[in-house]
Amino acid sequence: ILNGGVYVGQNKFLCFADTIHWQDIVRNPWASNFTLVPTNGSSGCGRCHKSCTGRCWGPTEHHCQTLTKTVCAEQCDGRCYGPYVSDCCHRECAGGCSGPKDTDCFACMNFNDSGACVTQCPQTFVYNPTTFQLEHNHNAKYTYGAFCVKKCPHNFVVDSSSCVRACPSSKMEVEENGIKMCKPCTDICPKACDGIGTGSLVSAQTVDSSNIDKFINCTKINGNLIFLVTGIHGDPYHTIAAINPEKLNIFQTVREITGYLNIQSWPENMTDFRVFSNLVTIGGRALYSGLSLLILKQQGITSLQFQSLKQISAGNIYITDNSNLCYYHTVNWTSLFSTPSQKTVIHRNKKAENCTADGMVCNELCSSDGCWGPGPDQCLSCKRFIRGKTCIDSCNLYDGEFREFANGSVCVECDPQCEKMEENMITCYGPGPDHCTKCFHFKDGPNCVEKCPDGLQGANSFIFKYADEDRECHPCHPNCTQG
Ligand SMILES: *[C@@H]1O[C@H](CO)[C@@H](O)[C@H](O)[C@H]1NC(C)=O
Ligand SMILES: *[C@@H]1O[C@H](CO)[C@@H](O)[C@H](O)[C@H]1NC(C)=O
Ligand SMILES: *[C@@H]1O[C@H](CO)[C@@H](O)[C@H](O)[C@H]1NC(C)=O
Ligand SMILES: *[C@@H]1O[C@H](CO)[C@@H](O)[C@H](O)[C@H]1NC(C)=O
Ligand SMILES: *[C@@H]1O[C@H](CO)[C@@H](O)[C@H](O)[C@H]1NC(C)=O
Ligand SMILES: *[C@@H]1O[C@H](CO)[C@@H](O)[C@H](O)[C@H]1NC(C)=O
Ligand SMILES: *[C@@H]1O[C@H](CO)[C@@H](O)[C@H](O)[C@H]1NC(C)=O
Repeated sequence: ILNGGVYVGQNKFLCFADTIHWQDIVRNPWASNFTLVPTNGSSGCGRCHKSCTGRCWGPTEHHCQTLTKTVCAEQCDGRCYGPYVSDCCHRECAGGCSGPKDTDCFACMNFNDSGACVTQCPQTFVYNPTTFQLEHNHNAKYTYGAFCVKKCPHNFVVDSSSCVRACPSSKMEVEENGIKMCKPCTDICPKACDGIGTGSLVSAQTVDSSNIDKFINCTKINGNLIFLVTGIHGDPYHTIAAINPEKLNIFQTVREITGYLNIQSWPENMTDFRVFSNLVTIGGRALYSGLSLLILKQQGITSLQFQSLKQISAGNIYITDNSNLCYYHTVNWTSLFSTPSQKTVIHRNKKAENCTADGMVCNELCSSDGCWGPGPDQCLSCKRFIRGKTCIDSCNLYDGEFREFANGSVCVECDPQCEKMEENMITCYGPGPDHCTKCFHFKDGPNCVEKCPDGLQGANSFIFKYADEDRECHPCHPNCTQG
């Protein structure tokens, strides 16, 4: 019994339980409250067989209790199969053994690796001392209950080094080299949802307060998104309340709409469609009168703010009668199209010259490709450099709170293992911990590391290194086993 104690009570006819030496069975009688209420043993119960020396599970000579712990030599670290120092079990054995090896255990304390009891299964990654990196271990095994297995059973997926039934919510299932694995999602996990007019929303006409919660965490809309006045302002006839404008932020997670986007109503005081700031693709697989994007008669809208939109794969565009809409004319819509037959109908929005006169022009950091709205994060492309989604003048190469290097025109933050250099000195010259000017902590080969390898599993042994006065890691002598 590896954890917890024992309670045996109120079993009127039970015999022999009070003869058992429970301390020999329970791993740690002091850690948990260990209770035994002996049953009414005296009356009607026989004695243990005479070969059992008074301890037994039942009446015959086959029922004797074999002691494997309390009778061991002091040197044994746990269990034994005899009273002598040479009779100790391997320390990974749980309930005794037939010999001294890790393959002689009756049961394993931790994991059973093809008959041998081990502390951990062969790890997924091992340290390669020549490349100074953790590399995939071809002999890796996964834990499946108390077993180490080469392959997870059917219907199980690998999550780091274990077989699990389903990935945790922050990870998604992917297949790599024929192995189903859980991988952390960057940002938010993909989730496909029905659009208006498909699947569970087949009879819906518009996004409204009764169905908007179905779009929570969706990254892909299979179908269309339609916003009509009966959705935005409510439909008393069908007792549907108006949408709380805040709720439209649910659409921030949407990256793809496979059908069309049709906006004919929008809350009056919202001046743009920034809730679609992560929308990358409009598929146009379904069209509305030949249209994949329709924005009609929205007097409150001043800018579209589709800052991530890169592609409209099919269908035409219709943006008309939005009397305050600017910036639309700076966008080269054909550059978003996939086929030459796609067309734009863009009429009767705010005149370009009136937009310019009112200062509603692209930010100066935008290139001549135009923009979706005001500010340096609405450009279709940047004049100089970009950090995340925002155009900037220059990267933080030599100064600033966090330092960067320039990958083309993209500013990328230096690896956290790089030491931030004083002003006028570059902190890193590329990605990863092997492109630092100086290490923040220690240096192992070309890599900056948090600490020197300290018992990392290598291909055949554990790897220990020490740091010299220059904080560089060097291997310990091979005879050192603990660093
Ligand atoms: C276990 O026993 C100790 C000492 O007798 C007592 O203080 C503690 O509350 C007990 N714990 C439980 C979980 O019964
Ligand atoms: C134990 O056995 C005796 C005799 O049969 C009986 O009188 C007594 O009630 C029993 N005690 C319990 C706790 O069952
Ligand atoms: C380990 O597992 C094998 C079967 O996979 C089994 O035959 C063996 O008895 C197990 N060993 C221990 C100590 O549990
Ligand atoms: C949405 O995602 C968040 C974060 O992953 C999670 O906590 C939440 O439960 C999800 N909500 C729904 C309705 O799926
Ligand atoms: C728009 O108006 C609603 C109430 O009519 C209010 O709850 C909301 O906060 C307003 N939103 C903005 C962006 O002003
Ligand atoms: C718009 O983009 C298309 C395709 O990228 C290009 O052929 C065309 O010259 C561009 N038009 C303008 C006015 O820049
Ligand atoms: C728009 O600009 C024209 C001149 O180009 C001007 O006559 C008109 O008054 C302006 N309209 C608005 C609403 O500013």
